[in-house]
Amino acid sequence: MTGADDLLEKLAAALGPKGLTRDPADLSPWLEDWRKRYRGAALAMASPASTQEVVQILKLCSAANVPIVPQGGNTSMVAGATPCEEGRSLLLSMRRMNRIRSLSAQSNSAVCEAGVVLSHLHEAAEGEGRRFPLTLGARGTATIGGLISTNAGGTQVLRFGTMRGLVQGLEAVLPDGTLFEGLTPLKKDNRGYDVRQLLIGAEGTLGIVTAANLKLVPAIGSRSVAWVGVSSPTKALELLHLLSAGMANSIEGFELVPRSALELVLAHVPGTRQPLEAMHEWNVLIEATAPVAAPSPEEALSAALGSAFAAGLAEDAAIAPNEAQAGAFWRIRDSISEAEHKDGPAAKHDLSVEVAAMPGFIVEATAAVERRFPGSRVIAFGHLGDGNVHFNVRAPQDAGPDWLRDEAPAVTRYVHDLVVAAGGSISAEHGIGQMRLSELHRLADPARLGVMRAIKNALDPKGIMNPGKLVPPFDGAQESLAEATLQP
Ligand code: FAD
Ligand code: MLT
Ligand code: ZN
Repeated sequence: MTGADDLLEKLAAALGPKGLTRDPADLSPWLEDWRKRYRGAALAMASPASTQEVVQILKLCSAANVPIVPQGGNTSMVAGATPCEEGRSLLLSMRRMNRIRSLSAQSNSAVCEAGVVLSHLHEAAEGEGRRFPLTLGARGTATIGGLISTNAGGTQVLRFGTMRGLVQGLEAVLPDGTLFEGLTPLKKDNRGYDVRQLLIGAEGTLGIVTAANLKLVPAIGSRSVAWVGVSSPTKALELLHLLSAGMANSIEGFELVPRSALELVLAHVPGTRQPLEAMHEWNVLIEATAPVAAPSPEEALSAALGSAFAAGLAEDAAIAPNEAQAGAFWRIRDSISEAEHKDGPAAKHDLSVEVAAMPGFIVEATAAVERRFPGSRVIAFGHLGDGNVHFNVRAPQDAGPDWLRDEAPAVTRYVHDLVVAAGGSISAEHGIGQMRLSELHRLADPARLGVMRAIKNALDPKGIMNPGKLVPPFDGAQESLAEATLQP
């Protein structure tokens, strides 16, 4: 019997028939990433039903030196939850751990297991007159554990921040099977290094998130959603400043949509309609909200848009007259990825620069890329107010079938060089996974890489947690933090 067979026998005994499968048909859908760019292999898929089962799995895998690939909804944009090809890993699905352990309107918190799907938490919070304010296009599939492990952002970051700011407590299992119990939501806690924050955004490379205490906010009493045509990203950002000045805490969504993205959605997503009479080169989708018992934000938004017209910041605007129309505006925004996917290959990037620098970056980088790669077409869309856009470069129309493999990497290196030169990040919200690993390795400064490797080595000395993701491999196995920091 091999070491792997022995491990699988022990896992089967510990987890029962629902907790472990080796059936290729059961495994198959989970071995490919959401973008269908990576396909891996695994020894088996474990699906624990409790934290104690996760503890057992990690103890057994650690003893057998078998790598673990944690997976939630498998919506990672960077193939973070897809095992590598060699097939030595155990795929650890967290989807059976889907219980909301408690939800308290009084303390504005919910304790969720890692496999709770984001939209289920939204519904449960709404039932208690509360709201979990982070949302994104994959909300019907993405899980709390995956969102925490990627420090997800989404479309409401402007007001409520990323996952980091919404996790008040965390329960996790460390690589050797030790349980980290940090669910209590302490407002003040200075016992040294912040283990919770270390695990948030760690992409499953430092341990398994099993549950979290999440912050809730008051339910929305009313919202007002507007679609505005603008002439440039600069005007869009000026519009945001104008709105923020007058409507301080009520603007929570401000998403940039170029004409090219809107055209793709209208062409590929059934049931979508052009939001304004004419097409505009740039558009913004704005959401303003008000709490229960407060006046609707519509009047304030309408007045602010009036000032925007007077100041030459807006070309046209429509405020959704009802919830159905508001939903239709958001559907356009949330369908951009899907429409791009249907349209054909694109080199995708998730960039951030300083907020004030983003309009200039979009315009200059677009011109530079389209000049350097004739026929390519840039679509830059998304979270302008966070200084984060998805800067996607579509293949030229006459590109061959192997464009993604043969040409796109050079496009990506070029785009990443531009963003690094602008002082920005090659991953604003999607993480590194396996898709961005070589670029992180190429571009991150030695101090950052050295710290990351030192932390990884300290917590996961056997390197069994999600290998091949996030942390670039050691050049020399014993490379020290000091050596890494001193490298030119
Ligand atoms: P998975 O994809 O399964 O895993 C993601 C990573 O976390 C992997 O590295 C995995 O190993 C690790 N992981 C998963 N669960 C655990 C756990 N319990 N413990 C430890 N590690 C774990 N992201 C944004 O930030 N903003 C957006 O606006 C946005 N929009 C999106 C829209 C669409 C249509 C799609 C498909 C994705 C979008 N994303 C967005 C990507 C986003 O990162 C993921 O949707 C989400 O964060 C991942 O959740 P998941 O449960 O699918 O995790
Ligand atoms: C979005 O903002 O729509 C997502 O992060 C998905 C994407 O980058 O395609
Ligand atoms: Zn995004």
